Amino acid sequence: MTYTPITGDIIEELITICSLSNVITDRERIEGYSHDETSREQFCAMPEVVVTPTTTSQVAQIMRLADRYTIPVTPRGAGSGLSGGAIPLFGGIVLSLEKMNRIIEVDEENLTVTAEAGIVTNELNERLKDTGLFFAGYPMSLESCFLGGNIAENAGGGKAIKYGVTRGYVLGLTVVTPQGEIVHLGGKVTKDVSSYDLKQLYIGSEGTLGIITEATIKLIGVPKVASTLLVPFTGAQEAISVVPLLMKQGIIPVSIEFMDRLSFAISAEYLNESLPLDGVGALLLIEVDGSDEAQVEADLIAVGELCEEQGAMEVYIAEDANNRERIWAVRRAIAEAIKVYSPIQSLEDVVVPIASIPRVLPFLEELSAKYGLKIPCYGHAGDGNLHATVIKDPDWTMERWLETEPKILGELYAFIVGELEGKISGEHGIGVKRREFVKELTPKAEYELLKTLKSAFDPKNIMNPGKILI
Ligand code: LAC
Ligand code: ZN
Repeated sequence: MTYTPITGDIIEELITICSLSNVITDRERIEGYSHDETSREQFCAMPEVVVTPTTTSQVAQIMRLADRYTIPVTPRGAGSGLSGGAIPLFGGIVLSLEKMNRIIEVDEENLTVTAEAGIVTNELNERLKDTGLFFAGYPMSLESCFLGGNIAENAGGGKAIKYGVTRGYVLGLTVVTPQGEIVHLGGKVTKDVSSYDLKQLYIGSEGTLGIITEATIKLIGVPKVASTLLVPFTGAQEAISVVPLLMKQGIIPVSIEFMDRLSFAISAEYLNESLPLDGVGALLLIEVDGSDEAQVEADLIAVGELCEEQGAMEVYIAEDANNRERIWAVRRAIAEAIKVYSPIQSLEDVVVPIASIPRVLPFLEELSAKYGLKIPCYGHAGDGNLHATVIKDPDWTMERWLETEPKILGELYAFIVGELEGKISGEHGIGVKRREFVKELTPKAEYELLKTLKSAFDPKNIMNPGKILI
């Protein structure tokens, strides 16, 4: 596919559509739109122009222009993605949703909120505070990530065991197609089998089929009681082996997060939190909530007892909101802290069925020993979703890293998919980072269906080209 370079005339047309202040061509300013949270030394490409439209109608006009001239368009949320989905591989236009951050309607009668795609996830819940309702999505980047990005990636996060992933909360979507048509999918209903489910297809499609500009989100009541346990174990394997047992206990916790010592220590230090870690090999963070205080208490005791039976060193309980938030803050900051500790790395998010969870760590240890690299690991263990982070040795040359990293990932993915019936990404998506592996690991007939689908929606391949598929 040959794309049309951005000319002065095209810039003029963009200015006519969304005004001068929403069209950025200054090199210094557009540099910030050339990468996301993947290592920028590896994944980076400059856009030719960045636009920050303020309405769905402007987004549609921009897409019509891109369609007319065959210009690649890369939609962008907060840039907190971890698979390179927002990187403009072929230059062209980066369309940032940052200025579309309004709440359109809070409908307490129907338990919904309708908002634009650029609203920060946490801000949405802040604004709902007085209603007693909330959006249960809890991505670890919630202080910065946008609602639209959550939907485009079908974000998971720290509350998915009990509350599920983003997909379960999207009732309606406004989407601009690659041809510049505006479509409204779904609405405020909770059930809908009225045709092919295009709304669900757009969720998790990483901006490759169109641009999500607005969403109607299902809200639920804020649980009255919540408690968090922090449970240290001497060994990482010991800690993670408790997870399938906890999942089979008949209690549905909100979260079971695993943090190995290195991940936890790096994050605690980054946040200046001093937590005693003598003899600790790994920790579980377990949260339970509900509407009945006695029930939550009983669940906590059962969970704590099981951990003790399985060799926990201690069971610390945090019931008040401040202490719970302190623990969660350390958990949420791990990715950022490891990035500061070592900017060149590969942050993974493999996912396996519950019973296979204990088999992941020994394999990571093998990889770590074989290649001589540190691979700290943490993540949403109750979902079988682990963030192994392969860290470049500071003494390695970039050349050696670039040669070795795909080998490590190839071995990891082959084991996860081939031996454990898992998947290569549970929440960060494919983007540019994993597209070769998708091609390699997806059965041919399925891969062809994916390609057929993409070309049906986007025959000119202008909508976030080069992502997911090759
Ligand atoms: C987390 C991000 C990396 O769970 O998904 O911290
Ligand atoms: Zn995660």
